[in-house]
Amino acid sequence: TSLRHEAAKRDILIGSGAINPTYLDDPEFAAVLSLQFESLSPENEGKWTFLEKTQGHYNWTSLDRLVDFAESNDMVVKGHGLISSCCNPDYVLNMTDPTALRAAMTAHFEAFMHRYDSKTVDRWDVVTEALETMGGGLQDNIFHKVLGPGYIAEAFRIARAAIPEAKLFINENLVESLPDKRKELYDLVSGLVADGVPVDGVALQMHITLAAPLPGVLTDIVNSYKALGLEVAIAEMDVHTLNDTLTTDIYGAVMQEAVSANITDISFWGFTDKHLYTWLPGAKPLMFDEEYNPKGAFYAVHDAL
Ligand code: XIL
Repeated sequence: TSLRHEAAKRDILIGSGAINPTYLDDPEFAAVLSLQFESLSPENEGKWTFLEKTQGHYNWTSLDRLVDFAESNDMVVKGHGLISSCCNPDYVLNMTDPTALRAAMTAHFEAFMHRYDSKTVDRWDVVTEALETMGGGLQDNIFHKVLGPGYIAEAFRIARAAIPEAKLFINENLVESLPDKRKELYDLVSGLVADGVPVDGVALQMHITLAAPLPGVLTDIVNSYKALGLEVAIAEMDVHTLNDTLTTDIYGAVMQEAVSANITDISFWGFTDKHLYTWLPGAKPLMFDEEYNPKGAFYAVHDAL
């Protein structure tokens, strides 16, 4: 049976991110994607410069294709991402006037969020990687430089106003493996909640290198945000080791804990080693090999569901 079939029995939305629309040209890729997963997220095609390289001129071709594919296969799409640390167009990077940047954010969010049926694109990464990679404060990105730390709250408010029923996430990396960064994110998010900022959940990237998070960490994260009324999702899991057995074990351990902690939205950053996003040469981080055969990691995930 498929992952999608097993996950549905537990009300888990199982998905693959890192989908580049050109991969759909490969019928085998498209077939595995729609058979195994119920959600997908674009790799880069939803990032600002990919959609609106020139202010006011939108290029929807790639993203339309992904959304059409999802709709024909009863899948949902994650809106990744409204603000991300990479991939901002020059006209944004060159802004110095807060009013102009706010207006640009509002126009960009509204155009992107209103383009698609809100039942298909029903959840959004509003801000991705607000914190420094290794922790230690907010990234001094263009939004922070021009608007100050309040840009995060502003982004969520603009997104909520654009589509009140959308689920809004803050997406962050490495919090499961860096305790200080974990606390930093919690402080940031609980501050947003205390200020009435419309954030619905925390999306953990979970690009894992070498070792699984310590047992119990994922459960603690889920419980701490649950106490604030927020959901925790796994957004971009992949496992970069140089040892297939270890990779399989990590997939299994993370998925077992995710299921027992009641995480109901789990996505991987791709599914086939044919299309790799890895900074560790030689690592085969995904659940299917280059020929779309399921690997040990697939069975470990399947068994955990
Ligand atoms: C990555 C893409 O996979 C690469 O193609 C691109 O060069 C950089 O971004 N966290 C995220 C994703 O939220 O958007 C990143 O995707 C991977 C890390």
